[in-house]
Amino acid sequence: MKKRIKTILLDKPVGQTATVAGWVRTKRDTGSFSFIEVNDGSCLANLQIIAEEKLDNYGSEIKQLSTGSSVVVEGELKESPAKGQDVELHALSFRVIGKADPESYPLQKKRHSFEFLRELSHLRPRTNALGAVGRVRSRLSYAVHLFFQERGFAQVHTPIITTSDCEGAGEMFQVITGQEKSKAEHFFGRPAGLTVSGQLQAEVYALALGDVYTFGPTFRAENSNTSRHLSEFWMLEPEMAFCDLQGNMQVAEEMLKYLLTDAMTNCVEDLQLFNNFIEKGLLKKLQAVVDKKFVHVTYTEAVEQLKKAGKKFEFPIEWGRDLQSEHERFLSEELFQCPVTVTDYPASIKPFYMRLNDDKKTVAAMDILVPGIGEIVGGSQREERYEVLEERMIEAGITLADYAWYLDLRRYGSVPHSGFGLGFERLVQFVTGMANIREVIAFPRTPGSAPC
Ligand code: 4AD
Ligand code: MG
Repeated sequence: MKKRIKTILLDKPVGQTATVAGWVRTKRDTGSFSFIEVNDGSCLANLQIIAEEKLDNYGSEIKQLSTGSSVVVEGELKESPAKGQDVELHALSFRVIGKADPESYPLQKKRHSFEFLRELSHLRPRTNALGAVGRVRSRLSYAVHLFFQERGFAQVHTPIITTSDCEGAGEMFQVITGQEKSKAEHFFGRPAGLTVSGQLQAEVYALALGDVYTFGPTFRAENSNTSRHLSEFWMLEPEMAFCDLQGNMQVAEEMLKYLLTDAMTNCVEDLQLFNNFIEKGLLKKLQAVVDKKFVHVTYTEAVEQLKKAGKKFEFPIEWGRDLQSEHERFLSEELFQCPVTVTDYPASIKPFYMRLNDDKKTVAAMDILVPGIGEIVGGSQREERYEVLEERMIEAGITLADYAWYLDLRRYGSVPHSGFGLGFERLVQFVTGMANIREVIAFPRTPGSAPC
């Protein structure tokens, strides 16, 4: 039976035999045997294999082994006399499954830049850093489900193809078959696209099941080539009936703290790697977020603070303009030095569905800004009053008939409800300290680039 290297290194079953399967990282020959480091992806650490020349394929195969080759090794686990590992595997049988040509295999022992590795999205998860990202991402995804399921939220699978543009920003990719004979012909009877957010459909289920969440891929055809934007990214969106903005902010803060704590508990070795080589002080940063209460400011207060800061920003600060990433980062990194929840943005810069405040100028919106990233969460209380929503939709130039179902939710048993969206890659960036969002999704899609 194949054993995971993670399990072996944890249990250290010295004296037992075990079979491991993985890829060769390095090989060193000394006299009558070779040391071979094998990684199987279950954890960051490699297992050291000792292969002696008495193995019948030693001269014919093992001596020629090169980095990247796949092997299956059966052997006896022994205490390791050397520093760096507690146990090592003394091979009784050593099978080479797939060779990797050393002349062309691009991942050699030296450190490669992330830019270089981006051209190799099919091989880069075999590196230490990208492998660690893969494991941390998987754990965080699991922790998202744990958090919401433990609290009685139901998961909804909202559609990927949709006829509603939730954010109303005209950033939808169109879905066509290519067989349309005229401009008026549509596969779904009307124009459809890839979803920018599952929120509107999540609202339907919140007003039936109470507390729900949707977690899936979302798509934006915006031409943003930054270290925080993708054309395809994953978004987690809870939606809660009978919940106002304050309740919404509380869930978001609790959730972020839960997710960071979970990663620090269950991804110790991988986070240590990031702490040592990617972002010094990462673990301290994460712990501080868990320990401190988030700062709450209104958009109006934030604008005043930014004006007072006397800092030269590239984009002007003026009430009514959206906060830019440089402003968001100044607030969380320099001014407050912790996550900041900014609320009550001008209605004119936010989507139609956000609840209008009594001042008629601002809406019950909230963005959570974190150091190094800026906006990680965006949410709001939704407009539950039929007439107010209808007016906002007309103002936004929306064809009401297309959203009759959405308005119906306000005609039949409407309730105050709220929700938010967490950019999952931005979360993974924050937890790993990776500078560019292209490193925290397996196959990044950005303007001009969609490898694999
Ligand atoms: O602020 P956004 O646009 O909010 C919504 O879509 C709401 N409908 C969510 C809701 O209330 N249910 O996006 C939410 C989050 C942002 O805070 C950001 O973290 C992330 O999604 N995000 C992106 N992440 C990567 N690449 C992009 N292009 C992103 N656009 C938004
Ligand atoms: Mg936003």
